[in-house]
Amino acid sequence: SSDVSGDLTNVLITEAEIHAKIAELARRIEADYAGQDVLLVGVLKGAVMVMADLARELRLPITMDWMAVSSYGTSTQSSGVVRILKDLDSELEGRTVLIVEDIIDSGLTLSWLLGNLRSRGPASVEVCALLRKPDAVRIELDVKYVGFDIPNDFVIGYGLDYAEKYRNLKDIAVLAPHVYS
Ligand code: PRP
Ligand code: MN
Ligand code: MG
Repeated sequence: SSDVSGDLTNVLITEAEIHAKIAELARRIEADYAGQDVLLVGVLKGAVMVMADLARELRLPITMDWMAVSSYGTSTQSSGVVRILKDLDSELEGRTVLIVEDIIDSGLTLSWLLGNLRSRGPASVEVCALLRKPDAVRIELDVKYVGFDIPNDFVIGYGLDYAEKYRNLKDIAVLAPHVYS
């Protein structure tokens, strides 16, 4: 069936709340990066929706590039093992880089990514993540732009998946335990 409402416990963040928050983050980013050419690095696949909305909201000259890494596969637990599935097309030497992520869960993906991108000689690397789970974080990271701190529930929608499903939901919702248990 195409109706997935039975797979959700509740909507956590509505489409309207997401867009209001992205506009707020965009205003801060514009102020902080005024006069600079920013390279937005989206982390596939979860960040596609945030990237599409944030990039269009920003009144700044930006370019976009993408990296595909994976630490989850189809499990609900982070493995901590990060694989590069697709590398950037751009050189980072001297660039002003802003990583765009949908969620920081354990922080393991981002921790690895920050180390990897910083080793390429950029002028700066900062992070914009729509969601963060403070109770799940295993590595403390300095994240400049965070949309929402959320409880340690399995969330889906707006790019976030469970076993590659639900990315196209407009809201962010809590996945019902019966789906994954
Ligand atoms: C998810 C999410 C983040 C990462 C966060 O990606 O999009 O990139 O996990 O988890 P962590 O903080 O515990 O490392 P995933 O590996 O599921 O790939 P996807 O973006 O293709 O869904
Ligand atoms: Mn991801
Ligand atoms: Mg995923």
